Amino acid sequence: MTAGVDPTRLQALVERESDVFRRARPKSAAALAKARALMPDGVPMAWMAGLYAHPTLYVAGGQGSRFEDVDGNSYIDFNLADLSNTIGYGANAVSDRLAHQAVRGIQHLLPTEDAIAVAAELKQRSGYPFWQFTLSASGANTEVIRIARAFTGRNKVVVFDGKYHGHIDTTMVDGSEPEALGILPDATRDTITVPFNDAVALAQVLAGGDVALVLTEPALTNCTLILPDPGFLTKVRALCQANGTLLCLDETHSWQFAYGGMAPTEAATGDFLTLGKGLGTGAPLGCYGMTAPLAAYIEQNRQYSDPNARGLAIGGTTYGNALTMAAVRAGLEAISTQAAYARITALGGRLADGIDALIRRHDLPWRAFRYGPRSGFCLSPALPRTAAEAIPSMDPAFSAARRIYMANRGIWDAIATAGPQASFAHSEADIDRYLAVAADFLEQVVS
Ligand SMILES: Cc1ncc(COP(=O)(O)O)c(C=O)c1O
Repeated sequence: MTAGVDPTRLQALVERESDVFRRARPKSAAALAKARALMPDGVPMAWMAGLYAHPTLYVAGGQGSRFEDVDGNSYIDFNLADLSNTIGYGANAVSDRLAHQAVRGIQHLLPTEDAIAVAAELKQRSGYPFWQFTLSASGANTEVIRIARAFTGRNKVVVFDGKYHGHIDTTMVDGSEPEALGILPDATRDTITVPFNDAVALAQVLAGGDVALVLTEPALTNCTLILPDPGFLTKVRALCQANGTLLCLDETHSWQFAYGGMAPTEAATGDFLTLGKGLGTGAPLGCYGMTAPLAAYIEQNRQYSDPNARGLAIGGTTYGNALTMAAVRAGLEAISTQAAYARITALGGRLADGIDALIRRHDLPWRAFRYGPRSGFCLSPALPRTAAEAIPSMDPAFSAARRIYMANRGIWDAIATAGPQASFAHSEADIDRYLAVAADFLEQVVS
């Protein structure tokens, strides 16, 4: 149990608030009941039910920083669809371009010129000269792993403990065992997990000279927020280069933390860069940037170029489709500008300062997470450096109670593994409303 929280009061609050939550959402309950006859858990993707401790909502729509459920309850969104919707709802700059594209064709299995503009802008922001597109970051990482294995002629892949890189057989690993059902032990046999911020352990596993790829986020963002020690990412790069191992920086989440992602600030470079989620403005997207030699390797080993040779297992019929590319281009040009990132960084600072002030008010042994627009409750006195140290801050009981209390007061809070984040649609008033409701919540549950 989280230090400073009264478990009895927390439990009583959850019971009270669960009742309020259910009574205010009869239409969502009816939709779920109807949908259950058609879809497991009554949702089109079982995660939609599994991520939340309360009954699932059915959504009516949204505008700006808010969305509404089918019962007319309105929420200021701080979960941002786990960072896949950082532009907010109904942004004209994107929806107009989507409408324009939709009437011309959503998908052709041929490129549209938006792809050139997007690749050029990603090159300018990240420095990676060549790009490929998928429909999810899982898809992008899957291709990166395959290319790295083919390019290096090696099998092994290194990830860091606490990672999440998508639903990919190779990386859904706990130690060296599959971490989920349906994944064969053989699929994770060549995956090695190392503690984050541990360059010595990494050096040991790379020394064997048989690792194709190190895949990591610059900061681990799926078990709260674990920042790299100063110089850690530079060491990772140097170790990879010294051992003939490729490095992929997965900025699927952290691209939403800073203009050009975290890599420029953290002096991090790699051979691949994975992006997705918010970059797609909510449209399905994954993509990866790469160096010139890797792009040349793809050109030389494309499937079907030589009928007598096997090509790389990459691609998908709807990857790089016209609609997604139009959405990404509109988002880059009109929304996620450098000035807009500066604005959300300031909002994130306001959020983190406010959380720190609440913690001080109650004299709790906690602190705020903070990186650009991202914040959250670090439920221990020191920021975590490893996944093991982050576990207390993902207390499921505390997170579930906070989420349902805030949902009943019009705030859609982040899930336990993440933290509330400022979006391009948020205002200072939205941040202040979050803090006011969080303050009320703490009054109810602290010892
Ligand atoms: C760092 C990271 N990489 C990859 C993914 C997978 O993204 P997607 O759900 O688009 O496949 C996620 C999703 O949370 C992520 O956080």
